[in-house]
Amino acid sequence: MSSSSSSVERYSRPAIFFHWAIALLVALAYLSIEIRGPKDSDSREFWSSIHFWAGVLVLALAVCRVLWRLWQSPPPERESNALLVFLARLAHLALYVFIFVQPLLGILLSNTAGYPVNLAWLNLNFTLVGADAIASPALQAAHVWLGNAFYWIIGLHALAAIGHHVIFKDRTLRRML
Ligand code: HEM
Ligand code: HEM
Repeated sequence: MSSSSSSVERYSRPAIFFHWAIALLVALAYLSIEIRGPKDSDSREFWSSIHFWAGVLVLALAVCRVLWRLWQSPPPERESNALLVFLARLAHLALYVFIFVQPLLGILLSNTAGYPVNLAWLNLNFTLVGADAIASPALQAAHVWLGNAFYWIIGLHALAAIGHHVIFKDRTLRRML
């Protein structure tokens, strides 16, 4: 069932806030790890701290976002093609899983390598699991692999949104703004 009311035709304000805040923090997590610089440099320490902060905030906001979504349903889908509806749902589900799993892998890989997660500037340290020499390289490989895979999924998701706006000239992007 669809409605022409503008409040039904867009995501709620909190949903829009969570979407763009998380998207910016994910972009910051990628940027910071790419430009962190060589081992033992000041630049590496600074940008790694930004990476940890951005990633932990993604996880915290992801919890709030999912709770909000369970409480407040999104607007009805606009797409009428069943295959495109399925693909969009699959991509959204994958993105939801990513914003939980990727930060958790980051935290676990740090802990199993023997380091607490240190949130610099507030100097908050936390540890979820103890050191584990066997799990650590596997978690690190999973974190790097998933990070690389999601460059593509996020890119396709953004491209689909821009395609809707520029080529089909529909409201798909506008209802998330
Ligand atoms: C959405 C959040 C996150 C994204 C998108 C992300 C992405 C990435 C990517 C792509 C890399 C690999 C860089 C490379 O070597 O090519 C990486 C490395 C790393 N990440 Fe994250 N990460 C996130 C969250 C976290 C969190 C929360 C932590 C820990 C608190 C963390 C800790 C690390 C560490 C320690 C490495 C270095 C691994 C190594 O090369 O030894 N990440 N991250
Ligand atoms: C890391 C970056 C991103 C993540 C994790 C992400 C995640 C998501 C998720 C999970 C949804 C589904 C929302 C729901 O139904 O509850 C969604 C919807 C949406 N996203 Fe993103 N997104 C990201 C980046 C972007 C970018 C860069 C754009 C635009 C250029 C964009 C545009 C949209 C639009 C328009 C929707 C609504 C789609 C619809 O209603 O069918 N997203 N996003």
